[in-house]
Amino acid sequence: MKVKLSSGYEIPIENHKVRIVQRTDLVPVTRRLEAIAEAGYNTFLLRTKDLFLDMLTDSGTNAMSDNQLAAMMVSDDAYAGCASFYKLADAVKDVLRFDHTMPVHQGRAAEHLLAKVFVKPGDTVLMNYHFTTTKAHFELAGAKVLEIYTDEMMKTESTHPFKGNLDLQRFKDCIKKFGADKIPFVRMEATTNLVGGQPFSLKNLKEVKEIASANGIMLVFDGSLLSENAYFIKMREPGYSGKTIQEIIWELMQYVDLFYLSARKSTSVRGGMICTNRKEYYDRLLDWLPVYEGFSTYGGMSTKEIEAMAVGLREMTDVNVAGAGPEFIEYFVKRMVESGLPAVTPPGGLAAHLDAKRFVSHVPVSGYQAGALAAAIYIASGVRCMERGTISNDRAPDGSDVYADLELARLALPRRVYTMSHIEYVVDRLTWLYKNRQLIGGLRFVQEPKVLRFFFGRLEALDKWDIKLADAFKADFGPNY
Ligand code: F0G
Repeated sequence: MKVKLSSGYEIPIENHKVRIVQRTDLVPVTRRLEAIAEAGYNTFLLRTKDLFLDMLTDSGTNAMSDNQLAAMMVSDDAYAGCASFYKLADAVKDVLRFDHTMPVHQGRAAEHLLAKVFVKPGDTVLMNYHFTTTKAHFELAGAKVLEIYTDEMMKTESTHPFKGNLDLQRFKDCIKKFGADKIPFVRMEATTNLVGGQPFSLKNLKEVKEIASANGIMLVFDGSLLSENAYFIKMREPGYSGKTIQEIIWELMQYVDLFYLSARKSTSVRGGMICTNRKEYYDRLLDWLPVYEGFSTYGGMSTKEIEAMAVGLREMTDVNVAGAGPEFIEYFVKRMVESGLPAVTPPGGLAAHLDAKRFVSHVPVSGYQAGALAAAIYIASGVRCMERGTISNDRAPDGSDVYADLELARLALPRRVYTMSHIEYVVDRLTWLYKNRQLIGGLRFVQEPKVLRFFFGRLEALDKWDIKLADAFKADFGPNY
């Protein structure tokens, strides 16, 4: 919910009260300098004991509701036919209107099964934008991944409400070029994670479906942030302000042949699932489910999480739950822009993003601008964010870097976890860092995995810029912060 203060300033306000807390400490800058070096300047390799605010991701880190926790206590651990699964299948029927539900251990497990069953070598999978694990699975199956986004998506300063829309003309051109039989499906990601959590409109989905149907192409919907995309449709798309989140979700789902999600986001648990009304798709996937995940009524998930997911799915149709992330992110981005920081606009669904190309324009792209900025943010604040740029792309077969379309530092806001004073603290430290941005330098790999290198890769700071940055911080704030 948002409220207008008597001054006219609008702020997000929580529709819940906090009843359980987890302690977090701000370690001083000298320790942060050691910690980031120990982590190879890769924020994934930091330990939570060294973090003040963990804005790495909203995946699996959201605050659950009292009803979700209560549901976990009554879970049924039977290997086969457990009651917990049937509660989930009922919630899916009510909220998403699909007859067939298949739990899997998390989102990428759904992508693995999709790749196994539907993707062949030589295929091209079309999508509004890729996610790292999506691309890895489809490429491992021998396919090419092609993103057919509109020009608007790559503008980091924009007022376009639906930067996640798929470009319809390019979709038609691709069908002509590759042939519909070489396109196993078109995938719509709600909201486009790697390019600022930007949503697509209902109108766009409907038009994508019309083209897909006319050419016999299946429409796959990644609904990891479904309730957030529905919230943006309600707030931004003409004709939808009077509709409920549930009504918008029903309208979205009628265009979907196969739905999957990472349950670690909108539904605030840890797991995933695939849903469809096409029994033949379900049956083909079911062949492989026990090989990779488990029996059809648990699919690699804990039954406690299945119970909580059934509740989370229903709860996310409440506009105050669907809006909890977007409204705080909107405030975060507004405060960044007011402070002169190069934030991605308009605000998106899972995080506030900083445009590293603008923040550290003096660092060459070969020095991994977004990675360098993420390391610098940690040094200056104790806040962990995530690089979403060239380090998140693996190298081309010839060994060269594949420079990312956007270099972003992603400051995720797990749902209902952080407060406005946390946001104010981060904005303040980012503003200090921006004033001192010339001190930030580039990074170089010293240890580099071949696949999804951003998880475990280790780097070093060129010319020891990290030490100079920490010295400047100490000079301004003293040794205790
Ligand atoms: N699809 C989207 C849109 C995602 O954001 C993610 C995960 C996945 C699929 C894979 O799901 O992690 O449950 O296996 N995103 C996380 C993130 C990791 O930090 O944004 P998973």
